[in-house]
Amino acid sequence: MTLQQDSLFERFLAPIFEKFLIDKQALKYLYESIDWQAATERLNNPTVVYPDYYAKRNFHGIEGGYLTIGAAVTYDAITQYVLPPNETMVRQGLLQTIRSQPRRILDLGCGTGSSTLLLKRRFPQAEVIGLDLSPYMLVAAEQKAQQSGLHVIWRHGLAEATGLPAHAFDLVTTSLLFHETPAAIAQAILQESFRLLTVGGEFVLLDGNQAVLRHTEWLNNIFEEPYIREYAAGNVSDWLKAAGFAAVQTQDHWLLHQLSRGAKPLANEESESAEAIRATDGLTPQWAMG
Ligand SMILES: C[S@@+](CC[C@H](N)C(=O)[O-])C[C@H]1O[C@@H](n2cnc3c(N)ncnc32)[C@H](O)[C@@H]1O
Repeated sequence: MTLQQDSLFERFLAPIFEKFLIDKQALKYLYESIDWQAATERLNNPTVVYPDYYAKRNFHGIEGGYLTIGAAVTYDAITQYVLPPNETMVRQGLLQTIRSQPRRILDLGCGTGSSTLLLKRRFPQAEVIGLDLSPYMLVAAEQKAQQSGLHVIWRHGLAEATGLPAHAFDLVTTSLLFHETPAAIAQAILQESFRLLTVGGEFVLLDGNQAVLRHTEWLNNIFEEPYIREYAAGNVSDWLKAAGFAAVQTQDHWLLHQLSRGAKPLANEESESAEAIRATDGLTPQWAMG
């Protein structure tokens, strides 16, 4: 793993993580226990074209971002320390926001599958698909699922253009994805989620609290997150309404995080706010075109 020399993460946090917090033996074991080349080749979808916003930017100071074995091996070890007060409590919020008993679940930007596996545990009868743009992250996710004896389908692809059939899911989730994409891509992911959901289906998001991030520049500086300011300036509730979702709600979750939810209404029940928001900001979701 090559870290950028000039990021705040590299200068201040990486040494602390490396010296005191990370179990290097466990990372070495994870790295050595997988035939990365064979596994990534198996999970890799050769038709995927990496967009520049993803392939040409570093995330968390890691050169090459998520398209590296290093990112996949270190992700869980670092993430446990960056979701205060506690990773499990934060992720549980995603589950608590779900109101239905979904039968087909899609977790977009699933990473190493931490939330995906919680979803599978909570809804063991459901078919669960975890989709991510990094085959390396999917390899780590697959390994975790196998170790937990959980059956999840791992799919390599773009969250904003999944290629999956319309109306195929009754729950679409994302956790910690939107602060890592340009705002226009986050909105495109909501349009894609709307397309993928059945009528009455739910979209549920766990991510950084936009209202807090707007006023805490120091937090935005800590980790190298190229799009976090765009994310903080936006409003997931407004984006959900613009994409056509109804019953939209966003609530604070342990101060630093937020949970957002929307449901896909009947075609003739499009939320009034979707009309209003499109009229004011000129956004026309793809699903509403032609
Ligand atoms: C911060 S991680 C979150 C992973 C996981 N959801 C979690 O809660 O730990 C962001 C993930 O989103 C993936 N990602 C970023 N942009 C994506 C896109 N456009 N389509 C699919 N996955 C994407 C990255 O590869 C990475 O695994």
